[in-house]
Amino acid sequence: MNDAISKVLDKLEEQSKKEKSRETQVSAEDRMLAITKETGELINMILRVKKAKNMLEVGTSTGYSTIWCAEAISEQSGKIITIEKNPSKIKRAMTNFERAGISNTISIKEGNALEILTQMKSQQEYFDFFDCVLIDADKENVIKYFDLILSMVSIGGVIITDNMLYPEKYRECMAKYSEHIKKNSKLRTITSPIGNGEEITIRMD
Ligand SMILES: C[S@@+](CC[C@H](N)C(=O)[O-])C[C@H]1O[C@@H](n2cnc3c(N)ncnc32)[C@H](O)[C@@H]1O
Repeated sequence: MNDAISKVLDKLEEQSKKEKSRETQVSAEDRMLAITKETGELINMILRVKKAKNMLEVGTSTGYSTIWCAEAISEQSGKIITIEKNPSKIKRAMTNFERAGISNTISIKEGNALEILTQMKSQQEYFDFFDCVLIDADKENVIKYFDLILSMVSIGGVIITDNMLYPEKYRECMAKYSEHIKKNSKLRTITSPIGNGEEITIRMD
């Protein structure tokens, strides 16, 4: 990993730690709520093994997870589309992408993910398009996001969903999500205890 990327990731990890321990007071809507480092490493590894080129992320926040993904995707000259509704987080994410030197790999779509995904789903260019998707926005819409995304995922494509196990307040909602995926015979899925709990789903057919 190059120095610029590693420096930005280190800084964001430090910030995330401070926010979690309440050492820094941040308003609810400005909290990073980032994936763990372990999850970043896992997704980076999946992207490398798949030699993934096209990635979609729902929930950019300040860009920590996006940078982990871009570090792998950039080696395949690929692209990441990432969706975020909070303008101040987008600003922070853009600064982080610049500092990490990976802005060219990332395209941010600003707005409500349900609306953006509905629009994208109707565009032929995204049909069977994404090799990998990370779902990490609001949890109440997670099944809706998944259903909108599925036709945009290529056969063999992977969908990773954060917060399956932690925070515990989401557990019931995320268990329903996992059950929803298991009903579809064209998918295989496991709930991994890595990080905050990651659902790793493969489109088989
Ligand atoms: C858990 S954080 C994402 C963390 C990020 N993936 C990371 O690991 O660095 C969830 C983000 O989703 C955004 N979000 C929540 N609901 C959204 C919606 N309906 N449309 C777009 N973004 C949304 C929030 O503003 C927040 O920044």
